[in-house]
Amino acid sequence: MQIQPPTINIFEKAVRKAGRHLLRDFGEIENLQIQSKTIGDFVTNADLKIEKILLETLQYYYPTATYLTEESGKIEGDQEIIVIDPIDGTTNFIHGIPLFGIVVGKILNKEITDGVIYNPILDEFYWASKGKGAWCNNKRLRVSKRHDLMSCIIGTGIPHANRVYSNYLDHIDTITTSCSGLRRLGAASIDLAFVASGKLDAYWEKNLNLWDLSAGVLLVKEAGGKISETDGNSWTIESKDTLASNGLIHDLIQAKLNKI
Ligand code: IPD
Ligand code: CA
Ligand code: CA
Repeated sequence: MQIQPPTINIFEKAVRKAGRHLLRDFGEIENLQIQSKTIGDFVTNADLKIEKILLETLQYYYPTATYLTEESGKIEGDQEIIVIDPIDGTTNFIHGIPLFGIVVGKILNKEITDGVIYNPILDEFYWASKGKGAWCNNKRLRVSKRHDLMSCIIGTGIPHANRVYSNYLDHIDTITTSCSGLRRLGAASIDLAFVASGKLDAYWEKNLNLWDLSAGVLLVKEAGGKISETDGNSWTIESKDTLASNGLIHDLIQAKLNKI
């Protein structure tokens, strides 16, 4: 078993504490206060509370870091950036669907160095650290070995409201007719964790934010997978459009997405 680096220990402490609160809130979702940020983009009092708990714990250990959070925005600090999505999959959470993650990532010199995703319902703690592999609850993660697209399951994020992009239905059409099935899990971090775990063979989504992606991108890389933008360009921390895969079917999917 890999010994967790100190950063991961601290992140784990923060997300497990936040997870205990989120578990209680999940048991009482009828009491949630829900606000709509834009059409189809919700924030609940749970998102705000979880972000506060994460910030309190993380700022104790990293008082001078820059924080980039979904709900509080940017808190300026030094060049070490900690990225937070308190609940990735808020819409699932609101509907009682147990697929969501508390996400924390660390970035130094424009590179994701550490990341964790915690699903408190399934008690799945995913972590990755550059050069140290990708893990879930002490189990080393590896991407799948499938190379025949027809036997693969591909995840995606269906754009909604103001995120719609015009050729998405064509993309669905071309991918769904070439594989075993598509999945829309509703939480980008879980999609990426599932690619890293070999459950999904690939996943693509456009218009995401760094807080959705940070930890998951590192998990896929450390599990032996490949990450690029959907058009094949190199993925950077500024990227919004993401294609993650086991590496073996990457070029094929990318070609299909870009033929249209
Ligand atoms: C969302 C989820 C979802 C993706 C959305 C994201 P949120 O994050 O990751 O799967 O399709 O576009 O914004 O809003 O639940 O943190
Ligand atoms: Ca998110
Ligand atoms: Ca969120």
